[in-house]
Amino acid sequence: MSQFLAYLEQPELDPYLINEVFLSLSNKNNFQFGKYTHYQIFPATKPLKDFTRKIFNFDHIVQVQKITKDLPIHIDFNRQLAFNYIIETGGEEVKTCFYNANHELIEEHIILKHKWHCIRVNGNHNVKNITSQRIALTVNFPPIGKV
Ligand SMILES: [Fe+2]
Repeated sequence: MSQFLAYLEQPELDPYLINEVFLSLSNKNNFQFGKYTHYQIFPATKPLKDFTRKIFNFDHIVQVQKITKDLPIHIDFNRQLAFNYIIETGGEEVKTCFYNANHELIEEHIILKHKWHCIRVNGNHNVKNITSQRIALTVNFPPIGKV
């Protein structure tokens, strides 16, 4: 039992939706934060929005994230939970790691691809051992005040 990760039962993406994930990468990158050019986040196309609206019964934002290098330990600034679906892992040994306030490792997971899951991102975490692009669909609650 993990404090940080839970796999979910929502359905897999059909091939045409996987294609929409790659099409989303042509949208404008929504995330520009200083030197973090290896983390990009793109608005999802309409078919992906329609799909996630069917399978998640809460208001949400759906985006495609592309990570090309390991991420440093950080706390997400605008969300507590992320509902993710990995399409390309970025390598065999890519680990999502969760730390306490002193940056001591508490849990690490090689998260399965093509499996919806929820992770807690309101504490210290990172992703390491990336050797190629890591592509995921990511769903989260809208920031408070944006609904
Ligand atoms: Fe994060």
